[in-house]
Amino acid sequence: MSDPALPNKQRAARAALAWLRDDMILGVGTGSTVNALIELLVSEGAARRLRGAVASSEASAARLRDAGVALLDLNELDGLALYVDGADEATRGRQLIKGGGGALTREKIVAAAAQRFVCIIDEGKLVDQLGRFPLPVEVIPMARAYVARRLTALGGHPVWRTGVTTDNGNQILDVHGLAITDAVSLETAVNQIAGVVSVGLFAARPADVLLVGGARGVETI
Ligand code: 5RP
Repeated sequence: MSDPALPNKQRAARAALAWLRDDMILGVGTGSTVNALIELLVSEGAARRLRGAVASSEASAARLRDAGVALLDLNELDGLALYVDGADEATRGRQLIKGGGGALTREKIVAAAAQRFVCIIDEGKLVDQLGRFPLPVEVIPMARAYVARRLTALGGHPVWRTGVTTDNGNQILDVHGLAITDAVSLETAVNQIAGVVSVGLFAARPADVLLVGGARGVETI
């Protein structure tokens, strides 16, 4: 299925190349915008100038391997200079909803370990308030129904993403109908529910830079 936003995603991905440095270890996110970045890493010759990469998903790891980029274990590193990833929604305050691709937990880990998180999106993802995109929550399978009841009590309508198992062997609830007025508080509240592995709100640790691709170019926020 063709993605009408792809040219804008490609523009944002190209703008991220300016943040790369020779011999860098790059954190690489997941999704079609990041796939555009990986393609550019190859076509622009940047892949061979990296020391290696830490991938936020098995899918991105496979693409990076095909691109000839050495895959590194985050446990063997002191940290990362840069993480580049997409998002499902973003505010101008650089708070995000992520996890549409189901990789939210590893994305959160790599973002947390990175000194700088550059988020690349097409302009259709920019919102005044998070929450129109259903909020993904990764849960331990045996806790799914319990977590769903707690999310309902928080005002949401959780829907089990059936047929999806995360790279960590868990399940995902997509929470519809949340009015996210205080993203940091909601992130904290959801994180405290027993059985939640992670929530796709990136508010306590937002992106440091947002590159927004549009028809007229790329806006840096
Ligand atoms: C995956 C993510 C992605 O960054 C998000 O879903 C955006 O994807 P795309 O670049 O395909 O629009 O969080 O878990």
